[in-house]
Amino acid sequence: PQPPENYRPRIHFSPAKGWMSDPNGLVYYDGEYHLCYQHIPFDENGNLPWGGMHWGHAVSRDLLNWQHMPIALAPDSLGYIFSGCCVADLNNTSGLGTAADPPILAIFTYYDPVAAAQGRIETQSQGLAYSIDRGRTWTKYAANPVLPNPGIADFRDPHIVRHEPSGQWIMVLTAGKAVRFYGSPDCLHWEYLSEFGHDRGSHVGPWECPDLFPLRVEGSKEIKWVLLASVVNFTETPDKLATATQYFIGDFDGKHFTSEQTDTLWIDYGKDNYAGITFDNAPDDRRIFVGWMHSHQYAAAAQGHTTQSWSGAATFPRELSIVRSADGYRLKSKPVRELERLRGRSVKLKRQKINRTATLSDRIPFDKAPIELDLTFDGIDGPDAPSRYGIRLRNDLGEYVSMEYDRKKRLFRVDRTQAAAVRFSDPFASVQTAPYEPETGTMRWRLLVDVASMELFAADGRIVFTDVFFPGKPFDIIELFTEGGNVTLKKGDVTALETIRC
Ligand code: FRU
Repeated sequence: PQPPENYRPRIHFSPAKGWMSDPNGLVYYDGEYHLCYQHIPFDENGNLPWGGMHWGHAVSRDLLNWQHMPIALAPDSLGYIFSGCCVADLNNTSGLGTAADPPILAIFTYYDPVAAAQGRIETQSQGLAYSIDRGRTWTKYAANPVLPNPGIADFRDPHIVRHEPSGQWIMVLTAGKAVRFYGSPDCLHWEYLSEFGHDRGSHVGPWECPDLFPLRVEGSKEIKWVLLASVVNFTETPDKLATATQYFIGDFDGKHFTSEQTDTLWIDYGKDNYAGITFDNAPDDRRIFVGWMHSHQYAAAAQGHTTQSWSGAATFPRELSIVRSADGYRLKSKPVRELERLRGRSVKLKRQKINRTATLSDRIPFDKAPIELDLTFDGIDGPDAPSRYGIRLRNDLGEYVSMEYDRKKRLFRVDRTQAAAVRFSDPFASVQTAPYEPETGTMRWRLLVDVASMELFAADGRIVFTDVFFPGKPFDIIELFTEGGNVTLKKGDVTALETIRC
């Protein structure tokens, strides 16, 4: 492998030292975006003492550059600090701040290792902390937990949203292989409302890190409610995702979430976008999503073989929207527009036919990561159309990651079988697919390539793949390829991206 810091993301948040997993407590307050995250400070030997989760913390004014802050929440006598959310309590409904200085509330899961060691079911309850100084210091609420365990083993990862029509806060949280909803006037007292998910979605493992929010359908005034729920599958079969986030689009009436959707839909088909949630209180009603860019399946093994003193990163922040397609409502993701501020030198590619292999990197006079590719392909379904076409990132060691559309099977495919210098995990070396039926003969692919990750937004953000890689040398060769026919590259922009401050 390369030296650890060579794998340090350049356009993504990563912890300076120690472990990072789920994003927690995403909130916008007074000009700042707060990103908390599941964090274990490594011990003096750089080892990972599993358990003892904290909330790491960072702030940003632009979603790009991050300033590391002191740990926001550390374990106490009630347990470790598992995942949760923050909300800006702007009307001081909790009474924990003042009207002039409304508090930020953090609602999180306490995981009690003592109860776990005793084999008790009630290991997880919900606690609250607050800040009245713009997230600089945090005080745990004296009467924690605010929501004790009702006798459910998996009872965690609270997410809170304001529901104005019923004038209350709504909490959604994991309840086994489903979610529960609770309501509260003040975030301190919670009343059970309902459950959702027993007859919908994937049940290969417990649901984790749910989120619930209203979102407008593109091109209309219609508001739908979106429910996110991550799910871990420890008995993975090759074509199933191991850690992935499903979504449901439906309605929420202040008590029940309902959805007509019957298919299981995924926000991302890659292997490295898990436990993602959205920012509370973001300006202009934007719904900005950030996931953990790694996977429980191999993050610890990867760290030992590659990054050593740190682990994990955040996905590039994505703005979510809803489209109404022939199949029903679908979620779209695209990199937040702040990305434009990172753009540097750019190359415009001429309109050209792609037959077999075209090496783009020869025409790009700057580093191949971080880099943004914005390519529009034409003739993807016509008479000369290839059976497969796509993009390959590779080095001269024979390592690569490729992404393609398979026209016969009608699916996207990412091949990451040869993308790590050390084979630290079998499931890491995987092929991932996403079914998709193109609606026209043209398709836009946007790709963010960092030194150790790729994020593909295809079909206008309907299909997303996020995958990390750990090659022995940088992937500095970029190729377009076709098999059994050709496509036309109608438009192509390749742009260097500046490294963020983090
Ligand atoms: C998801 C998760 C959460 C839990 C946290 C613990 O990755 O398992 O359900 O709160 O991680 O770190």
